[in-house]
Amino acid sequence: MGLSSSLSIAIFLLYFTSVLAGPDKKKPDYLTQIDGLDTDYYRKTCPKAEEIISKKVKHWISKDYTLGASLLRLHFHDCAIRGCDGSVLVNTTGSERYAKASKTLRGFDVIDDIKAELEDKCPKTVSCADILTAVARDATHEIGGPYWSLKYGRKDGRKSLAEEAEGVPMGRESVTGLIQFFQSKGLTLLDLVVLSGAHTIGRCSCGSIQYRIYNYTEYGLADPSIDLKFLNFLQRKCRQASEYTELDAVTPTIFDSVYYKNLQQRMGLLSTDQMLYADSRTGPLVKALAAQHNLFYQQFGVSMKKLSKVQVLTGDEGEVRTKCFAFN
Ligand code: HEM
Ligand SMILES: *[C@@H]1O[C@H](CO)[C@@H](O)[C@H](O)[C@H]1NC(C)=O
Ligand SMILES: *[C@@H]1O[C@H](CO)[C@@H](O)[C@H](O)[C@H]1NC(C)=O
Repeated sequence: MGLSSSLSIAIFLLYFTSVLAGPDKKKPDYLTQIDGLDTDYYRKTCPKAEEIISKKVKHWISKDYTLGASLLRLHFHDCAIRGCDGSVLVNTTGSERYAKASKTLRGFDVIDDIKAELEDKCPKTVSCADILTAVARDATHEIGGPYWSLKYGRKDGRKSLAEEAEGVPMGRESVTGLIQFFQSKGLTLLDLVVLSGAHTIGRCSCGSIQYRIYNYTEYGLADPSIDLKFLNFLQRKCRQASEYTELDAVTPTIFDSVYYKNLQQRMGLLSTDQMLYADSRTGPLVKALAAQHNLFYQQFGVSMKKLSKVQVLTGDEGEVRTKCFAFN
């Protein structure tokens, strides 16, 4: 497929999603109300909530830059299982946190710290699900990514099961599997490709990719879709499963569209990243995003807003936890 036709597909898709999920002003009331969330949700009960959260996020990231990526990922893992309901934060026996898929999640201390201050300033008011949503947005912005507005009013779930968390994609799925997973959350092909761009920052434990670089084929060879120089680099860096390597090997700490360019160079770290370029359904979008940093930047916020509304609990559903790591 030529560049111009892939671009026009991408532009068409962007147009299409912006009609559905564009600026709230343009939408009739019945569409803005339908998610049960509200821009002014805490205006009377905790007007400083967003300010308190963003200050804390700034503070933590200034001490440890790598937390930015971890906090963004934490929100994805929350929304991926039982919707954005704070279920990933609970640390009771058998909760999502204890799933294999959660093994390298970090940033829980940040959430607990923010929650403690919010409980002090506005007790029993701001849900952990809302905190995590705002934290992911602020963390992304703090490390140079886009900013987007949010609506609030999510309630915290009362269930968190490790076995369910094993359903979060971990990098060995097929593109069809990823598309179906995203579709089951109301997220499109475009959302899948754009949100995968979060892998422009952050790191991956070597344990997650050793199968690709040492013993992928029945003859004990590496995954043939990996660039040979990159493979050589990975084979030297990832001898120990407990080591880490950057998801975007070229600009690991910059929130940019180089992640997509890497895929064109056969330098995707996860198999699920690399396959997005090879697949005829997602490949044209990868090309378009690689060529247009601004497109990625813009659309990332739009897709994150959609992610933050996946299967949310509102109104009488759920609860507002007083501690994010424990049900009330
Ligand atoms: C499309 C399916 C996805 C798959 C298969 C996937 C898989 C992974 C894997 C395997 C890791 C490394 C885990 C390890 O340490 O071994 C990772 C890290 C990460 N993921 Fe994803 N992910 C996906 C989608 C997303 C989405 C939608 C986001 C956010 C919007 C995201 C954000 C991140 C970030 C920021 C990191 C780095 C975390 C850190 O440095 O602590 N991922 N992902
Ligand atoms: C859960 O997290 C809290 C806060 O970090 C900690 O005090 C508590 O010991 C943890 N509980 C378990 C079962 O790990
Ligand atoms: C490579 O994988 C095959 C099949 O998955 C397995 O039988 C073999 O023991 C592995 N070799 C090494 C060196 O891990």
